[in-house]
Amino acid sequence: MFDYPIFDMPLIGHRLLFAFDAIIHVFISHGAAVGGSIVLALAQYFAIKDNDHKFDELAYKILFTFFILATAVGALTGIGIWVHVNIINPAAIGALLRVFFWKWFVEWIVFNIEMVFLLWWFLTWQKYPLGTPGKRFHFKLGATYAISSWFTMAIITAILGFMMTPGNWLKSEFPARPDYLASLFNPSWFPSLGFRTFFSIGWAAAAAMVLTWFFTKEDEALREKAIRFFGKILWVSVPLFLLFGYWYYTQFPQAAKDLFAIGAVTRNLASNPILPWMLNLVLAAIALLGGILLYTNPKKAPLAVAIALMVGCMGLLAEFERVREFVRKPYIIYGYMYANGVRVMDVPVLNRDGFLKRATFVPDELKTVTASNKVVAGRALYEMQCRYCHTINGVNAIKDRVKNWDEKAIYSRIGSLNSSATPFMPPFTGTDAERGALAAYLASLNGPAAHAVQH
Ligand code: HEC
Repeated sequence: MFDYPIFDMPLIGHRLLFAFDAIIHVFISHGAAVGGSIVLALAQYFAIKDNDHKFDELAYKILFTFFILATAVGALTGIGIWVHVNIINPAAIGALLRVFFWKWFVEWIVFNIEMVFLLWWFLTWQKYPLGTPGKRFHFKLGATYAISSWFTMAIITAILGFMMTPGNWLKSEFPARPDYLASLFNPSWFPSLGFRTFFSIGWAAAAAMVLTWFFTKEDEALREKAIRFFGKILWVSVPLFLLFGYWYYTQFPQAAKDLFAIGAVTRNLASNPILPWMLNLVLAAIALLGGILLYTNPKKAPLAVAIALMVGCMGLLAEFERVREFVRKPYIIYGYMYANGVRVMDVPVLNRDGFLKRATFVPDELKTVTASNKVVAGRALYEMQCRYCHTINGVNAIKDRVKNWDEKAIYSRIGSLNSSATPFMPPFTGTDAERGALAAYLASLNGPAAHAVQH
């Protein structure tokens, strides 16, 4: 355990750093890749069926935009996620890799197939004009791209679902002979996959409506036809993702459901029970209103309507990811590993023997807390247990959280981090002396020694 050097992200902290990258990635992977491939393959299918050259050309233009987004921003942020998870929580990604190694391996192969078919489909679109026999073959390239990009999502969703509901994996002969099938077929896999599938399709259809608005300024008939076409896909997907969303929700552990309000807004705002609902209803209303106005009046709808549809969908998607990440706290893998990389099963041993003793990168002179190394040892404990969610001075600043508390009050609070007031925090792990050291360090942040310790 704790076999990794410390990575520190000042001011914005780990959570925000990861959120920036991951949420941009979700916009692109769900919209431009998974949903986009399905929606545009459907568009091409109907363009071939109706022999509609203009619609075929429009679908190509939209694919051009999705292609740039998927290959540039999507791939880059996807790699960014790997970099971030490895430096932010190596213990967690290590655990997931051990459980999901072969599934991830398959996913990686399928992802490469996906990329090949995306390139093939996109780059040969003009080579197979409508009406030529090769066009049907060309459509099959798009369909293969769509199926493979959905398949990559299916596997990633299994891993995300596992983090929330490891379920029977924990009950199997664990950890000696864990049940790998139970990890894959965890209770929230199918519902979350259905939810993400139809959200992706709806989001891609919405994005295609907006792009149509831009690409068809000179052709009102085409605009009307295309916006209605993509709009119908959007309307079909909404009830389906709501239905799967509800099924998904029922799979969450009760403690996670209890955190929904805080996850949706912030701890302070959540004390007003209306606000979390309001925020999501307003986002949904913005998206729906934009969608309805664009659909009912495609020829005259102003730019603001298209933007409302985009912004509403993006807000809902970002909000979903934030809530999903937050309500899993205090765990990163539910019931198995806390958000700070401490495995639940290791807690008794660490409490007995000491946390610092087991930390490979902690210098030997800090492994035992003494009167003279107390504050520095406390800092090491902060870095290994608290820095995942707190910064010193920035977002969720620990310095502000303990302002005006003396060392004794902090010591006492450290003993109840996982209390009902703050159930999202993991408990402190370590000996009583280590708890005292952490308290001394945190007290020093606002005390006279603050400057000396931080630098
Ligand atoms: C999983 C994320 C997470 C971890 C890990 C974590 N905290 Fe927190 N902590 C939070 C959040 C979220 C808040 C609430 C912030 C707010 O009120 O907006 C918080 C609040 C606090 C508060 C203020 C509590 C109050 O009653 O207002 C203290 C003190 C605190 N944390 C100390 C710690 C210490 C010490 C550690 C490490 C041993 C730690 N936290 C680890 C997420 C975390």
